[in-house]
Amino acid sequence: MKNILVLYYSQSGQLGDILSNLISPLEKDKNCSVTVQQICPEEPYQFPWNKKDFLQVFPESYLQIPKPNIPIPDEIKNKKYDLIILGYTVWYLSPSIPINSFLKGDDAKILLRDTPVITVNGSRNMWILTQEKVKRLLVDCKAKLVGNVAFVDRHWNHVSVITIVHWMMGGKKTKYLGVFPKPGVSDKDINEADKFGIIIKKHLFGENYEQLQKDLVNEGAVAIKPFLIRSDKSGNHIFSKWSAHIYKVGLKSPERRQKWLNFFQYYLQFAIWVFVPIVFIIFLLTYVPFYVRIKKDIKYYQSVRLR
Ligand SMILES: Cc1cc2nc3c(=O)[nH]c(=O)nc-3n(C[C@H](O)[C@H](O)[C@H](O)COP(=O)(O)O)c2cc1C
Repeated sequence: MKNILVLYYSQSGQLGDILSNLISPLEKDKNCSVTVQQICPEEPYQFPWNKKDFLQVFPESYLQIPKPNIPIPDEIKNKKYDLIILGYTVWYLSPSIPINSFLKGDDAKILLRDTPVITVNGSRNMWILTQEKVKRLLVDCKAKLVGNVAFVDRHWNHVSVITIVHWMMGGKKTKYLGVFPKPGVSDKDINEADKFGIIIKKHLFGENYEQLQKDLVNEGAVAIKPFLIRSDKSGNHIFSKWSAHIYKVGLKSPERRQKWLNFFQYYLQFAIWVFVPIVFIIFLLTYVPFYVRIKKDIKYYQSVRLR
């Protein structure tokens, strides 16, 4: 019998739906016992979001400052698992606050130690460097990352920016103005998530997980658009400056924190609509000389290795 634990945090339920399809081949197998546990912050984040709260979580999300979660129940925490599946979403190019807090807390140190872990993320599309942050947190927990599956919105980057705001602020995954595509991960990708569960099951009963990530990638688990690596790197550079400043200012004055968050919001709009297209043009112009490097990067970010 193999014991599998699924841990995740999802607001709209999108990641929950992805995971329940992904683990269905495991749940159907009589030799698997699957436990699903949600990670819950002590102070829940409102969904749908309002503009103010959405901005307020920026500094702590990006700087990976933990907030208290409700402890994992003892009957789950005190068991040893053959495999843990960790489902996370991305907030401001970092793991969401509940997931970051979990990974930095004692529960994770107990549960994940010496345990194979598969990460499953459900984001808009900017998850690549967040996965590097998760890899590092997993190393701190002495966990062994053996697989990763990334679910994203496959529409154009700027289209997904518009539609995700409609979804996050309105709470419904509907077509904005009736003309934009549905936001988030497509129904097709959500419904077909079980194909990754079938691969995971094969390796769960195999000798080790050495070939797992290769098999997942071959099935399309980690499609990487090279420009998004560039954008993620630039975004991290910019966010590191803004978040540190806003966090520092906020320690002395909540009013000034709010004021700077408002500036940040305008800057973000400028960055998305002016800066990103310029970076895209530069990326296209330098694509050929950087071709080998880009191919190497894609291979690395599809892997479970940590540089
Ligand atoms: C505050 C906040 C910030 C987000 N930042 C990012 C981001 O930087 N990159 C990204 O790809 N998605 C981002 N998203 C989208 C989430 O990763 C996720 O896809 C969405 O919130 C739906 O997840 P759910 O399953 O919790 O409902 C953000 C969402 C929120 C609420």
